[in-house]
Amino acid sequence: MDPSDVETVFVAGASGGTGRAALRLLSSRVSTVRALTSTPSKTDDLRAAGADEVVVDDLLNPTALTDALSDVDVVLSAVGSNITDVWSQNEYVDGAGTINLLDAAVDAGVEAFVMESAIGVGEEPASPLAAAFDIVIQPIQRAKAEAETAIREAPVRHTILRPGVLTNGPRTDTVSAAEPGAKLWGSVSRADVARLMIAAPVTPAAEDRTLEVVSKPSFPNRALDIEWQLPRGGGKTLSVETPDDVS
Ligand SMILES: NC(=O)c1ccc[n+]([C@@H]2O[C@H](COP(=O)([O-])OP(=O)(O)OC[C@H]3O[C@@H](n4cnc5c(N)ncnc54)[C@H](OP(=O)(O)O)[C@@H]3O)[C@@H](O)[C@H]2O)c1
Repeated sequence: MDPSDVETVFVAGASGGTGRAALRLLSSRVSTVRALTSTPSKTDDLRAAGADEVVVDDLLNPTALTDALSDVDVVLSAVGSNITDVWSQNEYVDGAGTINLLDAAVDAGVEAFVMESAIGVGEEPASPLAAAFDIVIQPIQRAKAEAETAIREAPVRHTILRPGVLTNGPRTDTVSAAEPGAKLWGSVSRADVARLMIAAPVTPAAEDRTLEVVSKPSFPNRALDIEWQLPRGGGKTLSVETPDDVS
């Protein structure tokens, strides 16, 4: 996609850590940011955080997702299960919920879909960190793998990012992104992941790719040289306090 073609972006998981960072960065770059929450009481908060429009729906039991995605150019999915629900559910927003969102996005003619997955998802050789993720949250990792497969098979441009341990640190723009199986390990801030999610649809080298992502320590021999672009569809000035440098 051309950076000037991204006008309306739909953020699922907008009230979460990565989602909020995405709202802040998108506000100044695109005309309309539409945020999804499953919790009606978060609506005002999401508007204050940068959403122009808020949609209330539950991805595990959606009611009007395709309508909510009309006129949307890009879907960013930063949803995730609560860690306390790992062993008590048989359906996860990371899997079935993300697939419901994907299906609705395809029906609505969305151009690009970006998923925040996690290091260790999938069959590729994993670092010890990723292997630990797999042991602790195995059902969620499996659910994410199912969603990843559906995304790769869907008729929509996609990027799947598999970050290492997420932090609430500032945006640094110093990330390493590599092919699955590169065995990256380490942490990365939600703000850095949000930037890559927003950049992916307009970055040619990120098209239809799955990438492991960590911040420092970097892996110069394993990382890809990707020139990340950002949309420039025209946004507005956001007058909220931003704890992180994400402008
Ligand atoms: N923690 C880590 O170290 C780590 C590492 C790698 C990858 N990840 C993955 O990265 C992603 C983002 O993590 P994060 O910590 O930034 O997010 P987060 O703060 O956990 O937020 C997750 C969001 O998912 C939304 N959500 C949950 N169930 C939903 C449903 N049924 N329908 C619609 N929305 C739903 C929630 O929104 P509402 O409550 O507003 O509905 C919430 O805002 C997750 O997939 C996580 O597994 C995490």
